[in-house]
Amino acid sequence: MKSVSILAPVDCTMLQAIALRGSGGFCQPPPFPLPSLHRPTTAPPPQRRNNRGSLPIDTPPPYGPVRSDEIDAVARLARHGFGLPRPIFDRYADLFGVDRLRVLRDTAPTGCYQPMACVAHWPVDQWFGGKAVPSQAIALMTVDPTRRGQGIGRALMHDALAEGRAAGAALAVLWPSTLPFYQRLGFGRGGVACRWSAPPALLAPPPAPLPDALAPDALAPDDGAIRPADPRDATPLAALRRRTLEDGNGLIERDEALWSLALCPDGDPADLFLLIGPDGAEGYIALSPPQMSPPQNRRLLVADLCAPTPRALRLARRLLSGYRAQVDRVVWRGGPDDPLALLATDVDVCLEEREEWLLRVLDVPRALTTRAYPNGIETTIAFAINDPLFPENTTVFRLEVAGGRGVIAHGVQDEASSATLGISAFSCLYSGHASATALWRAGLLYGKEKIIAALDRLFCGQRPWMVDRF
Ligand SMILES: CC(C)(COP(=O)(O)OP(=O)(O)OC[C@H]1O[C@@H](n2cnc3c(N)ncnc32)[C@H](O)[C@@H]1OP(=O)(O)O)[C@@H](O)C(=O)NCCC(=O)NCCS
Repeated sequence: MKSVSILAPVDCTMLQAIALRGSGGFCQPPPFPLPSLHRPTTAPPPQRRNNRGSLPIDTPPPYGPVRSDEIDAVARLARHGFGLPRPIFDRYADLFGVDRLRVLRDTAPTGCYQPMACVAHWPVDQWFGGKAVPSQAIALMTVDPTRRGQGIGRALMHDALAEGRAAGAALAVLWPSTLPFYQRLGFGRGGVACRWSAPPALLAPPPAPLPDALAPDALAPDDGAIRPADPRDATPLAALRRRTLEDGNGLIERDEALWSLALCPDGDPADLFLLIGPDGAEGYIALSPPQMSPPQNRRLLVADLCAPTPRALRLARRLLSGYRAQVDRVVWRGGPDDPLALLATDVDVCLEEREEWLLRVLDVPRALTTRAYPNGIETTIAFAINDPLFPENTTVFRLEVAGGRGVIAHGVQDEASSATLGISAFSCLYSGHASATALWRAGLLYGKEKIIAALDRLFCGQRPWMVDRF
């Protein structure tokens, strides 16, 4: 089991400066110590060696890390692909690191080795069943608008996924703007992010303990305290968030860049409050300043919320309901089974937006053996998987589960009694976003009734969600 991450301080003041600073940041030294966790240790791009016969000796390889003289071209690709202004591109580059950028170059004899497409990827831990699974976060996938529809995007994604897989990633995760492109690459729907809103008065905790409360001491009205804290130090927050990672499915363990985005969503530091019980902090809530003018008129945005105990949730509700004279609605992001939404005291709770992120299993045995499963289940299931991109995954895997962990058994491979499915549907099943029964009904999974029932028991749990954007 991995130890809790210790994070460097998040310097939000400097983030604000980056957001305002203008272009040219890639090649300048960053204005604050860059995050060090999860940073890929990629070697500098090869400059002079290649083994591709007739090409000149200093021709760059078609796929590889971005070179410093290619940053402007990549910034242009990002502008075309996502409308990303240069200052914002620079802010993200400073935050996440340019060593995460990969390009696909035009190395045709008539080409000038210009990047035709770019993507960013880096290793993250993604939690399933209470354990961290090595995953690959992917962002900024874009192809030169004059070169689209020629297989370039697919080729770049294939190279990037192969690189992540070779570096140990069992999964890949991304936020899509188009589903079919990624489905053809084996991604499936992995989980959701929900944007909820409610009038603050609806979030007020009851004045006295509920009659059927299981733990009356945790619900006593004056129990606990709310204290302002420094949003630049994410270390104690990471420790508090650990429980949420363990309880949920699909959540990503944040590195410094993701903490910075969570606590300074627009470059402005949020107001951070610790939710404190008798033995110390149990959770935290970060609030953006209340918006009193359009477009977010009279809305209070919760930048980040971690309330893994009834007391922490009660304290968060108390804080939010105190804004009832200032704002009409409180807006927060969470999962489909959000406890704040569950506890709202009237029906005016609104699911304003529901977005889906995609997951791809890159390495089937590694994915199956690094996650955890519900305790008390002992079963053996064979998966016959079809993965056109990675032939290593196209075989029958026999998974034996006991004591919450799974091992791949070698030997007998009985395809007739397997669950048969493509890698995209397998990814969807793995995350728990769709049950085996739902996939079977949709014609995406084939197997006997007994196997489908066993799969439903194995991949059940909290519905997968993740709110970190990248
Ligand atoms: C999405 C994008 C990266 C695709 O790159 P591309 O080089 O045009 O795609 P390819 O030619 O490699 O297409 C591969 C397959 O995906 C399909 N595809 C590509 N873009 C698609 C789209 N927007 N909608 C539906 N299908 C798409 C192609 O038809 C092709 O299918 P096939 O294998 O059955 O022939 C490119 O259009 C782009 O840069 N878009 C703007 C930025 C963007 O939206 N990026 C994705 C962010 S998550």
